[in-house]
This record gives sequence, structure tokens and C-alpha cells, in this order.
Amino acid sequence: MMDLFSDIDAAERDEIKVLRRELEEANRLYYVDNAPTMSDRDFDAKMHRLQDLENAHPEMDDPSSPTHHVGSDLGRQGFEQVAHRYPMLSLANSYSREEIEEWVRRLPSGVEIVAELKYDGLSISLWYEHGSLVRALTRGDGVRGDDVLRNIRTISSIPTKVAGLPEHYEIRGEILLPWERFEQLNRQREQNDEPLFANPRNAASGTLKLLDSEEVRRRGLTCYLYHIVGENLQGTTHYERLQQAREWGFPVSDAVRLCHSVDEVMEFIAYWDVERRTLPVATDGIVLKVNSIAQQQSLGYTAKTPRWAIAYKFPAEKQLTTLRRITYQVGRTGVVTPVANLDAVQLSGTMVQRATLHNEDFIRQLDIREGDRVWVEKGGEIIPKITGREGGEREGENVDEGYSFITHCPECGAELVRVEGEAAWRCPNDTACPPQLKGRLEHFVSRKAMDIDGLGAETIDLFFEKGLVRDIADIYALKRNDIAVLEGFGDKSAERILSGIEASKQVPWPRVLFALGIRMVGETTAVKIARRFRSIDELQWATHEQLTAVEDVGPQIAQNIVQYFLDERNLDVLIRLRAAGVQMENAEHEQEKMSDVLADKTIVISGTFQNHSRDEYKALIEQNGGRNSGSVSSKTSFILAGENMGPEKRKKAESLGVPLVSEDEFLNMLKA
Ligand code: IVH
Repeated sequence: MMDLFSDIDAAERDEIKVLRRELEEANRLYYVDNAPTMSDRDFDAKMHRLQDLENAHPEMDDPSSPTHHVGSDLGRQGFEQVAHRYPMLSLANSYSREEIEEWVRRLPSGVEIVAELKYDGLSISLWYEHGSLVRALTRGDGVRGDDVLRNIRTISSIPTKVAGLPEHYEIRGEILLPWERFEQLNRQREQNDEPLFANPRNAASGTLKLLDSEEVRRRGLTCYLYHIVGENLQGTTHYERLQQAREWGFPVSDAVRLCHSVDEVMEFIAYWDVERRTLPVATDGIVLKVNSIAQQQSLGYTAKTPRWAIAYKFPAEKQLTTLRRITYQVGRTGVVTPVANLDAVQLSGTMVQRATLHNEDFIRQLDIREGDRVWVEKGGEIIPKITGREGGEREGENVDEGYSFITHCPECGAELVRVEGEAAWRCPNDTACPPQLKGRLEHFVSRKAMDIDGLGAETIDLFFEKGLVRDIADIYALKRNDIAVLEGFGDKSAERILSGIEASKQVPWPRVLFALGIRMVGETTAVKIARRFRSIDELQWATHEQLTAVEDVGPQIAQNIVQYFLDERNLDVLIRLRAAGVQMENAEHEQEKMSDVLADKTIVISGTFQNHSRDEYKALIEQNGGRNSGSVSSKTSFILAGENMGPEKRKKAESLGVPLVSEDEFLNMLKA
């Protein structure tokens, strides 16, 4: 038998740390950024592993571990945060009949189970007082949510007044963006060069966060309600309460079945696993709930989930098809990505013909080659993936004939290099390889970088093909006539592009730094670097140590920056950009150093504020010699605590004895 409380070794300690970090990051990407990267299955597997490790080593338990709290979508500006009357929990997941049977075994015998569809949107809690809708709270961190009532009011199926309701009535459900609306929205975003939403759930979540309710209305959200909360309500079963809510006019789905056996549950699952493809909204499983409210109450809750309900997740849809050819794509940074070209197959409502193969190791691990029959899957992500090969061991001639990655760049012929420790092969010819040059230009003009009106990726590609631009500084040498003579362009569009270019000279230095496209220097890192190095000249002479002292800048990024300035061709581009009038330093008012009152202080900002925005406070901290940090640790000098400070941060601060400083106290400190 396993020794339950064995001494922890260094490897396990590291594993716990890594799992916690990965799960926190996955939660953030899912709930805050609406850009998930980890599949639910991987997330659950990691969470289980972490839970096992924590159970075996109670001394490693930490109240801020992701095993103790649900992910949080809090942090939108412009919405009031309100405490939930009852915590908003999530559901335990199951993936097989066996797991469902195991759950049923823990329930009283003869229990009735309600099976419902699991809608894949974001949860909402609606409060009705005297028959009027008064609040609409997102899940938030499960304890408090954002009141998004004004956006919820745009959903016509949600009644705002209901006759006959109890005095206080709370009903919960899911906000969804129908497939059709989702595709329409993404088409529009593609045209505007905006990042696409990976799935309708993320699109719904992004939409609900918008401050402009008219735009929310245009996007066309919809809703299903499935959970009535509170005490002393009419109806002794969940099923009755759902029927009652439907009669009152709430949008309650008809896809609900009262089951008396696991067989009936499995029938419901088998039926909907196929039929759900015809539904106008996304579903990702079914939910099983104990029907009797009295039984629900006696079963109760664990820290994160009810014991009286469980989710069953549908397996990701997958198809077998033939891998015809592996081609190779060269990206902006020279990374060469292998791409699977497949016989077209229908998958989750779309035709799939290509899928990424990531890198050489991925192809080797799955042991796939041209001509193989392969499985393609589409999970929550936008890009389909290959998950395996049909058939077992290879036989005959095929056995030794391993896969080999290309050795030369398919675009420029340069010999590829693979950096020690990296999975990717890269084309080193960054000064002449066309997709790298074009990629850098496209990045420079893109919305989050210089945002040059009239110059999208396509136009830039055309200018490149015509030999008008080769590096980013060439953009500032474009002449009206160069553009106006091109097919499809005229004086008017030339004028618009030139004035867009002119306007880009006002783009502030942090964004210019991001636009330069130094490897791994993303948008937020650029801002942090530009706060510390206030001009290109300061940055050029920064040492590796000075660079790594900046938050988020690790040795690799520091190395990339140093390398960038060692390349003569980059220096030439920078000289020409500066001569053209591009901002290469912070504007006067941004540069002002105010004092050293916060010298040597590491400060964490948490909550919402009355007098300044969080970004303004961050700037104030730096202008007064302090350092910003995102997480509370023993190195934190104090927390600048606004209203509704995060409960986890508060707990952590208390346990480490880190003082909290209010907004007023902080402003007084600066005055002093
Ligand atoms: S019941 C106490 N019923 O799935 C739990 N949830 O993964 C009450 N969801 O947070 C939730 N369809 O946002 C319930 N028919 C359904 C659902 C459903 C979708 C969502 C809900 C929940 C999440 C858990």
C-alpha cells in the first residue's frame, strides 16, 4: 500500500509548484482572457494529480492552491461586484459510464435523477425582487460576481418582470452566443484584423464584458436557465421547479429527462451526443442532478462542487482521415511548423482539411507519416489537432523508414537550425527570408502595434511583393505615387494610407517597442520594459542584469534584446525610424520622476479604486521609485488595497503579515 504521509521529495515539491502555476494560468486564460489553451480533460487530470499530491503531503497544503477555489472571471472594469447569496460552484466532471455508476453508488438507493444538457457558455445568476429583475451576477470567483444587468437586459428571452414569482427569487443558468452569431462575429473580426474567438463560450464571455450594451444587443446573446436557488420555495423536486419556471416564462430547455436508472441516463447521453449537432448553441456534455430537493440538501457540497450533481463531458468529436502530405510553414519569427494536409472531413460543423503538427517531436511521438490514416479532433480550440494514427505497430519495409524533418527552409533555402532545448526548427535567415520579412512588417502595422489605418496584412504583403517595402522603416519612405499607381488603389486610398502612417508617429514608445518585433517581447512585457528604460538609447545600453531585473523579463528575453541591438541592420532601421519622427522615448510628462519615497518597496495592487485607475497607480509607484508586483510574497512591502480586494490576496497577506495600505493612506504617503 502507498505510504499516505510519506516525506515529500524535491521532485514532488517541484511538481506541486508547477501544477499550481499551470492550473492558475489555465484558469486565468479561461476566465479572464477568454482564450483557453488547456483542454478540460488535461485540466481535470492535472487537478487530480495535484489533489493526490496535496492529500499525500498535508504539510504542502496552501489555502491559495487552485484545489481550494474555482477559477475567477472577476476583474472587469465598469461593473459592480456583488456577493452571491449562495456560492456559485462548479461541477465535478465524469467521462464514462463507470464514473457515472460510481457517483450513483454514493447516492441513496432508488434515487431519481434529472438529466439535462450541459450548455457551454458562462453562468449567470438572476435575482428577482417582487417580480422584477434587479441583478444579474456572473460567477466571478464563486463568492462575488460582477453585476452585468444592463447587458443581460439586451437578451429578449429573459423576462424583466414576472407575475406570480415569490418575493425573492433567484434562478441561475447559462449565457450563450448561438453558433450562427459566433461565426458571423468571427467573420467580421477577421475582416477588421482582430483576434478571433476560439469558441462561442469565449465569444459570449467577451461580449458580456463589453461596456457598450448596444453592441451587446447587436451580437445576439441567448440564455437557458436550469437551477433555482433558495429556501422555502414551492416544489419538492428540481424537476417540478424547472416546469414551474418554464410556466412563468423563463427560458428553460425541453431537453430534460427524469431518469430512474443508469441505463436511462446512458440513453439520454447517446441520443444527445448525436442530436446536439443540430442545436443552435454549443453544448459540451450533460448534467445529472438528484431530483429530490430534500435529498440534495442531505447530500450537500464539497468545497467546490455539489455532491448531488455531476457533469458528464462528451468526448471531443473525432474523425479518421488520410494524411496526404506534410507541408511546412515559416512564421514571422522563422519557426518552421509542420502542417498536415488531409482528405477533407466534416468535424463539429466545419470542413477540416489542415491541422497543425506542432513540431518534429510531436510527429515522432505519434509516429505519423504521409499516407497514414489519422484521427483528427476538434476540442475547444479553433485549430483542429491530430491525436493519433490508426493501426498498431508498423510492419515490413515501413518499420525503419522513420520520419525526418526538412533540413532547409522551404521559402528561402537556408539551412534550418534547432536551438538546444527548443522543440522548434527555425530558419536563421531573418534578414532575407520573405515570410519573416513580411511577418515583421505585418506585425509592425497591426492594431495592437502601430495600428496604421489603411495598412492591413494584405496591403503590406502586396507592397512587399511590389518591392515597395522590405523593412519597417521603408514604410515611412512610401510616396503617394508608389501607392496610387497600384491596381485597386487610387489617390484617395494613397492619401488615407499616408495619413495613417503620419498618425503612427504619435504612437507612444511602449507600443513602438512592441511593434519592433523583438523576439518574445509581447505587449505587456514591452510596457514594463519601457517603464524602466524610458528611451531606445537607454534600452540599447541596458545590461543583461538590468534587463532581467524588470518584471516578466527572464534570461531568454534579455538575451533577445541584447542580441537585437548587436545587429547592425536593426540599428540602421532604428536610425531611419527615429529620423522619420517615430516616438523612441517616453513623452515628457510620462518621464517625470516624482520622488524616491517608494525606493526599495515592492508593492502589490489589489481591488478597485476611487481616485485613479490601477494603471495610473502602477505608474505612480514607478515614478516614485517603487516596484510593482503581481503576487503577494514575503518580499512584498505592502498591498495597495482598494475596494473588493481579492479574498485570496487578503488571506495570503494576513498569513505573511504583509500590511494593507488604503488608497488615501497611499496618496498621503506620496504627498509626504
Ligand atoms: S447546474 C451547483 N446545469 O456548467 C452547480 N450547470 O461545469 C449548478 N452548466 O458552472 C450548476 N449547463 O455554468 C448546471 N444544465 C446545467 C448546466 C450547467 C451548463 C454549467 C454551469 C456550471 C458549469 C460547471
